[in-house]
Amino acid sequence: TSEALVFQPPLANVLVELDEGIAWVTLNRPSKRNAMSPALNDEMVRVLDALEIDERVGVVVLTGAGDSFSAGMDLKEFFRDLDHLPYHQKIRIKRSAWQWQWKMLLNYPKPTIAMVNGWCFGGAFTPLVACDLAIAADEAQFGLSEINWGILPGGQVTKAITAVMSHRDAMYYAMTGKTFDGRKAAEMRLVNESVPLSNLKAHTRELAVLLRGKNPTVMRGTKMAVRMVQEMSWDVSDDYLMAKSAQSQFLDPEGGRSQGLTQFLDDKSYRPGLSGYKRQG
Ligand code: COA
Repeated sequence: TSEALVFQPPLANVLVELDEGIAWVTLNRPSKRNAMSPALNDEMVRVLDALEIDERVGVVVLTGAGDSFSAGMDLKEFFRDLDHLPYHQKIRIKRSAWQWQWKMLLNYPKPTIAMVNGWCFGGAFTPLVACDLAIAADEAQFGLSEINWGILPGGQVTKAITAVMSHRDAMYYAMTGKTFDGRKAAEMRLVNESVPLSNLKAHTRELAVLLRGKNPTVMRGTKMAVRMVQEMSWDVSDDYLMAKSAQSQFLDPEGGRSQGLTQFLDDKSYRPGLSGYKRQG
């Protein structure tokens, strides 16, 4: 029962389908292996902006059409075609790339999952890492191919890989430009797990349904907290988490904490160690 969402003006490079609270966002330039062009980047900013405030959307899944997740930045439209432009015009065009690929995704108030269905190169690592979770097909092929065509992994790719990969792995793949598959990506913790391609969508959907069932206010606080504390001292983190917990409790319209406690301590209707409380209202 999925429904394609209509945008005005219409999208030419991205497909958005809504299926029971899950927004499936597909980079949709399969003939160019979903390379990210300036037009695609502008559309992704609009898409993420719209889904953020769409009450029907609980979880966002990012994937690619055809046999690719994304072949990275569009080498023609994003690199060669911009080379002759003055710096301030380049920056204007590049802004929409950074905007969605990491700024919006890193701070997104709803859970995000990257579903890597095939080729994933260079610039595609930035949104991959900026999504909260990532599931790959065993068959997917990843590569930090920048060195193969004469640049270093810019566009925040180096920042992204060093946030999730070990120093040795990040250095090895950035320096060699060698490819690796989904299984290896999971082993290196670049993605959470990898499953056979034939099971990728069903498996990702299962995870999305699980996330969709959680209290959205607490979910937002939780994912921001996991990101934010990484760069804090223990003392600052302690104060931040106290404030964040109070904020989350205060802003939660369904009063999750008190429902959770009542259902466990008084009603004895569930065990928090094993599942979530039954959400009411
Ligand atoms: N930018 C622009 N165009 C790209 C592209 C990219 N990143 N990746 C693929 N394309 C285009 C090709 O130029 C080709 O266009 P054409 O049909 O007009 O000639 C089309 O997509 C298909 O690519 P092709 O190389 O024939 O497909 P393939 O299935 O044989 O190989 C890849 C797929 C992904 C291995 C290969 O396209 C590739 O190496 N792409 C570049 C990956 C890369 O280094 N990205 C890093 C960017 S930072």
